[in-house]
Amino acid sequence: MLVEKNVPLQPYNTFHIVAKAHTLVRIASASDVLQVLADPLLNAAPKFILGGGSNIVLTGDVKVVVLKVEIKGLRVLEDTPRAWVVEAGAGENWHDFVAWTLAQGLPGLENLALIPGTVGAAPVQNIGAYGVELQDRFESLDAVDLQTGQTFTLNAAQCAFGYRDSVFKHASAPADMASDRPAGLGLAGRALITHVRFRLPKPWKPVLGYLDIEKKQAQAGVTSPTAQQMFDWICQIRRAKLPDPAVIGNAGSFFKNPTVTPEQCADIIARDPKIVHYQLADGRVKLAAGWLIDACGWKGKSVGQAGVYEKQALVLVNRGVSASGSDGATGGEMMTLAKAIQTSVYERFGILLEAEPVVV
Ligand code: EPU
Repeated sequence: MLVEKNVPLQPYNTFHIVAKAHTLVRIASASDVLQVLADPLLNAAPKFILGGGSNIVLTGDVKVVVLKVEIKGLRVLEDTPRAWVVEAGAGENWHDFVAWTLAQGLPGLENLALIPGTVGAAPVQNIGAYGVELQDRFESLDAVDLQTGQTFTLNAAQCAFGYRDSVFKHASAPADMASDRPAGLGLAGRALITHVRFRLPKPWKPVLGYLDIEKKQAQAGVTSPTAQQMFDWICQIRRAKLPDPAVIGNAGSFFKNPTVTPEQCADIIARDPKIVHYQLADGRVKLAAGWLIDACGWKGKSVGQAGVYEKQALVLVNRGVSASGSDGATGGEMMTLAKAIQTSVYERFGILLEAEPVVV
């Protein structure tokens, strides 16, 4: 267990926001967590679990103890006629893990290629892209309870996955009326995920149907792509429309796509016939938040060094970090821009956009 003081967090958050952790502990194994809990000072202190930093907005120095998860390890646990089961340490880079599965001849995660962040953070917000969500391939995970020091395993039902949502995003009490979640079920800030297992079903079938993928199929003249082709196409699609955090700071989609009732949707269509919307199985309608923000004229705009990406209005970017050698936008500036976007979308469409990243 390595305890460090005054650690710059700029390299550890994909927005590249400048901030420091007063105390940072690198966690390389579950036993490191137990050592933290055995230390009277560290045990008593409030804690923040940091993965790849791809879904956070730092609004200042972090005074609580940062547990930076660096648990490694990739292995195949099962190879049966029905599925492969693979396990990854929570500190593994998500995209590298996806690439590794394909290199081992284990397809199933290719639609989730190039999503920034770590394996351990992936279940927290049930990452998803191009018709596949983590919950569709999830087997189970191991975690340590930071309050009791107990290790435990959760299956998919126990993780209570939803759209960019899980038990790890909700506080334990009181009951969460908004999502009908009973009291005591939330594990936010309490469970440190150490390992995640995935079930990759056989026979593999590509998950097609997204317009961008259909365009790639048409270009290549391929109706039944291989998993490697899917992986390559997804990487090309994402690189074309999403900024690379290594080049320009961002946290992927900044807002969730909102869902509305069919009546609300009909009302908006009457005023804005071009609105991009998708029918959901439960009768509700999902709206493209990127379209709503774009329609309000935000695409490419900036407030100070906080900006809206030119090619995808759902992505906020931190301009100025690499260009001028300046510190770039602060977390406060990013949130000011986010609030201005929320206000203008609300005033025009009557819809309150919900932010995806965790504000620290
Ligand atoms: N659109 C616009 N203007 C924009 C952006 C989008 O008109 O500036 C329209 C597009 O033309 C399209 C629709 O909005 O018709 C949806 O856009 P897109 O297909 O790019 O997907 P998205 O809804 O913006 C979601 C996920 C992404 C995921 C993609 C592909 C959320 C919040 N975002 O984006 O996930 O990669 O679908 O499956 O659900 C992330 O969560 O960080 C993320 C990148």
